[in-house]
Order: sequence, then structure tokens, then C-alpha cells
Amino acid sequence: MPLVPPHVASLTPYVPGKPIEEVEREYGVSNVAKLASNENALGPSPLALAAAREACAKVHLYPDGSAYELRNAIAAKLGVPSEEVMVGNGSNELIELLVRTFVLDGEEVLTSAQSFVAYKLAAQEHGRTLVEAPMKARFHYDLDALRKLLSRRTKVVFLANPDNPTGTWFTEAELTPFLDAVPKDTLVVLDEAYVEYVDAPGFQDGLALRRKYPNVVVLRTFSKIYGLAGMRVGYGLARPEVVEYVDRVRPPFNTSLVAQAAAAAALRDDAHVARSRALVLEERPFLANGLAGLGATVVPSQGNFVLADFPGRAGKDLFEALLREGVIARPVAGYGFPGALRITVGLRRENERCLAALGRILAA
Ligand SMILES: Cc1ncc(COP(=O)(O)O)c(C=O)c1O
Repeated sequence: MPLVPPHVASLTPYVPGKPIEEVEREYGVSNVAKLASNENALGPSPLALAAAREACAKVHLYPDGSAYELRNAIAAKLGVPSEEVMVGNGSNELIELLVRTFVLDGEEVLTSAQSFVAYKLAAQEHGRTLVEAPMKARFHYDLDALRKLLSRRTKVVFLANPDNPTGTWFTEAELTPFLDAVPKDTLVVLDEAYVEYVDAPGFQDGLALRRKYPNVVVLRTFSKIYGLAGMRVGYGLARPEVVEYVDRVRPPFNTSLVAQAAAAAALRDDAHVARSRALVLEERPFLANGLAGLGATVVPSQGNFVLADFPGRAGKDLFEALLREGVIARPVAGYGFPGALRITVGLRRENERCLAALGRILAA
């Protein structure tokens, strides 16, 4: 008897960004700039930190399994009923829970090829069929191609807007014909992990779309603009029935007491959010222009990161060379972009350091 089912035997685990300590140990460098995981260069919200410290005094107690206060805080902030809010151990957990809860054997998960790998992993982990539409113009979701792949078997669709790792986005005009074509029993998950960094005209977030399309589920996270990636908290907005079913499946204490307190406080920290957005809106073009100046094809991004493709180069070699310079970027060959690096928008000095190091590496 095999130890695991074939869909588990064939899984390739997620490869996260390299931790700072590992790079310091392995490369003998210090003061490393981590531009690998789209974290917040300004750090956590100070209000969240204070709330987390205070909550630590209570960690002998189990957290509130229903995350009552955090869900209410999210609901109040976004103007939705709290029965429409679910929280997860990062939005990544909600991606998995949506597949586990709703996709039956024989049904399909639909997404774009070369998009965030968690969608694919969630389908594979559960032995569910994954259907992927190719991207158009190398880096963009093709919503027409996705529409043509809809079938009676499509149960959950994952769309990242903006997308990771490309940073590209789609407009309301592109999305609406797709939503109109989706059967009403199919859930369309709009993953908006980077929504707070968007400044493109024509972009429509899922909050407004949910009113017209009750099968839309919106996912967001505290890992990016709120600076709480290490806390592991994300949230989803969905109609109450969907939230209720996910509640039946999720582990009873899926977000920690400290994480709940920190996230609720971070939501109140408008100043930190504004600073974090301003930094990215200022530094994203600086980094993109610098990379273009080095000869890279830079994909227009609405996230807190930039995908840069270096013609004739292997992204993995550039990644290795950057590590020796104390800069951690993200190679994305696994996504089918072998010549590219995904680089998180950092502080000005980190972006300058990354550009200077790349300049030396490319000139060598
Ligand atoms: C598009 C997208 N969705 C979801 C996530 C998961 O974030 P978390 O689990 O930290 O909330 C990420 C993280 O990088 C992402 O890029």
C-alpha cells in the first residue's frame, strides 16, 4: 500500500524567499536587503506592534476561535456585515480552505498559468483538477481565454489582481464579461493581496463587484501593506453561506491571539498604511526605471514589487550573484520566467543598493 496518494507524492513544495539569517550564514555578508517576499520595507504598523506586545500577556489562553473582534473591525472598516468576513492564517490558508470546502472530486479549479502558485498547490494537495489559461503578451491574465475554459465542472476560479509575480492587473471592463459568463454556483476568488498599492485608472476592486456578483469572494492580507507577514493573518469577504461553510472546515484556532490583536490594531493605523503606500508609489517607478536603465524588460506593476526580465540571462545566476552582494531577490524560473527576477520595492537605499549591485553583475 503506498504511503501517500499519488497527488501528494507528485507535489513540489512551495519555495519561499530566502531568509536573511540563512544568507548571512551562507554568504558571509551582513546588513542584507531582503527584497524577496514583497514584505513592507517600513516594517510593521507601530500600533500593531504595541497591541501584539500587550496580547502576549494573555497567550496562556486560547484565542477567540471566531476572531469576533477582528472580524467586526474588518467589517466596520469596509462597510460589510461581519457574517461576510472570514479570517485565515494568512490569506494562503483561505485559498486552501476554499478548495477544501467547495471543490468536489471531478470538479475543477480554474486560474491563469504563471500566476500565484498557491492556487495550483491548493488544487494539487486536494487531488483536484487544475485548469490553467495561458497568459497573453507574456505577462498578462487572458480573461477571454479563461472564459472559454469555464465549464459545468468549474467550481472555484482564482484571479490575482494585481497578479503575483508579474505585478500586472486587469480592469473592470476586462473582468465584467468574464463575471457575466460564470455560472452562479461557481465561486470567483479575487485575490487582492496588493490592492492597496494600486493607482491605475480603470481598476475596480472586488468590494464593489460583490454587490452585483454574489459569487465573488475577495481575499486580502495583513502581510503586505500592514507589515504583518510574520503574524500570518489574511481575510476574505464572501456571502454568509460561504463563510459559514469555511467555518465548518477550518481549524478551530486558525489565527493566534497575538495575530488577531495585531491585525485589529493595524487596521486602525491609517498613518502607517498611508506611509507604506506613499513609499511604494514613489519607489516603484524609481526601481523600474533603474532596472530598465540596466537593459531589463520591466513589466508594469501595480504591486509592491517589480518583475524584470533580463534578455539572454538566467535569473537564477543573477539571484546567486545578488546574494553575494547581500541582496535577496526572487528568481521566478519556476513560474516560467527563466530570465527574470521579482524584486520587492524597498527603501530608497535598498533599491539603490540593488540597482548598483545588478549594474556590477551585468557589467562583469
Ligand atoms: C497574490 C497573493 N495572494 C496571497 C498571498 C498570500 O499571502 P498571506 O498568506 O501572507 O496572506 C500572496 C503572498 O505573497 C500573494 O502574492
